[in-house]
Amino acid sequence: MAQIIDGKAVSRAVRARVAQETLALKEQGVTPGLAVILVGEDPASQVYVRNKEKACAEVGFYSEKYTLPADTTQAQLNALVDELNGKKEINGILCQLPLPPHLSDKEVIARIDPAKDVDAFHPENVGAIMIGDYRFLPCTPAGVMELIRSTGTDLTGKRAVVLGRSNIVGKPMAMLLLHANGTVTVCHSKTKNLKEICRNADILVAAVGKAKFVTEDMVKPGAVVIDVGMNRENGKLCGDVDFDAVKEKASAITPVPGGVGPMTIAMLMQNTLTAAKRQNNA
Ligand code: GUN
Repeated sequence: MAQIIDGKAVSRAVRARVAQETLALKEQGVTPGLAVILVGEDPASQVYVRNKEKACAEVGFYSEKYTLPADTTQAQLNALVDELNGKKEINGILCQLPLPPHLSDKEVIARIDPAKDVDAFHPENVGAIMIGDYRFLPCTPAGVMELIRSTGTDLTGKRAVVLGRSNIVGKPMAMLLLHANGTVTVCHSKTKNLKEICRNADILVAAVGKAKFVTEDMVKPGAVVIDVGMNRENGKLCGDVDFDAVKEKASAITPVPGGVGPMTIAMLMQNTLTAAKRQNNA
């Protein structure tokens, strides 16, 4: 049976390091500050935002939460971002996605000051990731890399397959694996011979948003399988991987919940600390 990768434990270690560095920073008179914007009442987003606030308090950050009604206009949202861009005590700004359909996530992302873009979604920061010159870590992919590292796996020369090509996970994930010397294939809904490609993967990262999409016959014996999925099945949280069957074949696998999810928040804390240090030359 595979090693079950404990995302909660790895996340705790990252957050403990951030908390320790925050203490030292506070002695220099700097408290990292994060502003989180939530538009509308998506229940999953409400949970994510609450967890981000909780994590801020635990590592000793200052945080502000803005809950806006679902009928907020683009102009109102833009005005809030402008205000937060100018606020000295706020080092990081995060607008929880997805936004209600009448609002443009592209417009909001581009409006956030790149120096405060702790999601690393701004085109300037995405460009920096592309050339391997990270200003901010793309949170979920960076969390996945920490989990892979925790298994002692060296990616050099290994075949890594990413399922999904989203801007938030799939694309930056591919870049991080590539920079770690993996040979990377990105698959998506139009990919042919998907099963075969997956079966060749030494490292398989699933980010497709479909419950139990990755079945046991798609996994190479001994592969490291990372599940980014967060799906609801009969009210229960469920990943993109058929965990019970795949765990018998993989050498290491992340559970859902308790795998990638806690890592995203830990990396967000890391980015907010980085932002605070840079903005204060600390
Ligand atoms: N929605 C799902 N994941 C994320 C994330 O990492 N950041 C933001 N802002 N919204 C998300």
